[in-house]
Amino acid sequence: MAHTKETNILVIGSGLSGAVAALTAAEENKKVILITNSNTLLSGNTKWAQGGIAYSSQKDSDIKFQEDIYNAGGRHNRQSAVEQLVKDGPKLIEQLLIKKLDIPFEKDKNNNLCFTSEAAHSADRIIHCKDATGYIIQKNIIEKIKKHPNITIHTNYLAIDLLTSSHHSNSSIDIYNKPECFGVITLDTKEQKINHIYANHTILATGGLGQIYLHTTNPAESRGDGIAMAWRAGARCVNLQYIQFHPTALYHESGRFLISETLRGEGAKLYDVNGLNFMKDLHPLQGLAPRDIVARGIHQALINTQHPCVYLDISYKKASWIKSRFPTIYKHCLNVGLDITSKAIPVVPAAHYSCGGISVNLKGESSLKRLYAIGEASCTGVHGSNRLASTSLLECLVWGYLSAKNASQDTSQHKIPKINDWIQESQEIDSTLITQNWLTIKNTMWNYVGLVRTRERLRSAQLILRNLQHDIEKSYQTAKLTPAIIGLRNGIQTSVAITTAALEDRVSRGCHYIE
Ligand code: SIN
Repeated sequence: MAHTKETNILVIGSGLSGAVAALTAAEENKKVILITNSNTLLSGNTKWAQGGIAYSSQKDSDIKFQEDIYNAGGRHNRQSAVEQLVKDGPKLIEQLLIKKLDIPFEKDKNNNLCFTSEAAHSADRIIHCKDATGYIIQKNIIEKIKKHPNITIHTNYLAIDLLTSSHHSNSSIDIYNKPECFGVITLDTKEQKINHIYANHTILATGGLGQIYLHTTNPAESRGDGIAMAWRAGARCVNLQYIQFHPTALYHESGRFLISETLRGEGAKLYDVNGLNFMKDLHPLQGLAPRDIVARGIHQALINTQHPCVYLDISYKKASWIKSRFPTIYKHCLNVGLDITSKAIPVVPAAHYSCGGISVNLKGESSLKRLYAIGEASCTGVHGSNRLASTSLLECLVWGYLSAKNASQDTSQHKIPKINDWIQESQEIDSTLITQNWLTIKNTMWNYVGLVRTRERLRSAQLILRNLQHDIEKSYQTAKLTPAIIGLRNGIQTSVAITTAALEDRVSRGCHYIE
């Protein structure tokens, strides 16, 4: 028997976009339910965003910023979305991050904001909290959310599927109506209970999908759950082939860890095992070329040198400056035995960001009525075929705010249909099967749908993944629901969707690079 809850606005995911949406809707006097599959709101990719947030400085111009976004994005960007980002972003930084949340962005001794740079930016326009910008912002906004009387928080609530009139109504003739989303089915992973949450508007803010790749900068929860659910519910997804690989993740047996692009922005040098600056002949901006180009430059350097990594060196700067400017990276590396004040950092590319996702308009509305998508799970068109650094938090802010404003102002009420009760199956799934299936997904995506693709590799990937999806779906139908089987079902769905998009797009562009 499923338990039911009801709200005006349901937000799924507590990264920056979800947090902004929840707070905005609550301040519009809406009843909000915010759920996360983690045991804490401080989850998702936001807290790992080291670099900063782009904020056009006085010396900068909106046109230059837009031009940088287009150049990085291979001119595959949606112009109206880029314009909205550049116009509304700075206002929201001032209004929400600086005035309301009082985020301690780095300032100089005259109390002016410090601006830094990252790859493919033609001006210093990135503000930051040392190298923990996402973490500080998320921590602060969560404090506000927790205190807001209009927001009910449920941690350990794992979304299983979106509720739609066409899939879940028990009146068969509802299939003739335009499909609408009216909430979500969740598994309370602590209490082992199924819940139906009914909402007039649902905002998906489920974040990234890096975990479907063997090597990633993303945390465990980023496995494409939102895209998988939206896909099954019939919402349009676009640009899924554009998976961005961050050029510099720490190469270490303890796992990959993001080494922020701001290191290069602050002058760190990139070279191969022989000391060669391999980016010199590849792009006029060398190590500060757009991410897709640097990542492929490294890929080629690894092949040329037959060495497992390249090196990023900031050690020529003063040790005290390094420790104060990059405390997170310094501490992480020191914990694994590497002192970056005296040694170069071994780095390799790793899956980092999905430039595509659930297709949305300028208000964050998806093609499925009453369903919004924001943040990395969505595709606003801002990023085109390759995202410019430090625009992801900005996009979360703008679309998080606008989606919630828009949903709050829509006073039309959805009539919730009667739905069949949830039938809980009982088959226990062998955990070895789950582990092995994940290895197949991660290896297939890494080797065949990775940084450098060929049509033959993509075709092989599609065959492997579709067969696997068939097996997983069969197991899922009779399985006792656990986070592991729900996650696996989402991971394979998202992988199949990405591979299909990559096969359908014969144009090699940005992050979708076909050899
Ligand atoms: C970084 O700090 O290099 C990552 C920031 C981003 O992905 O925008």
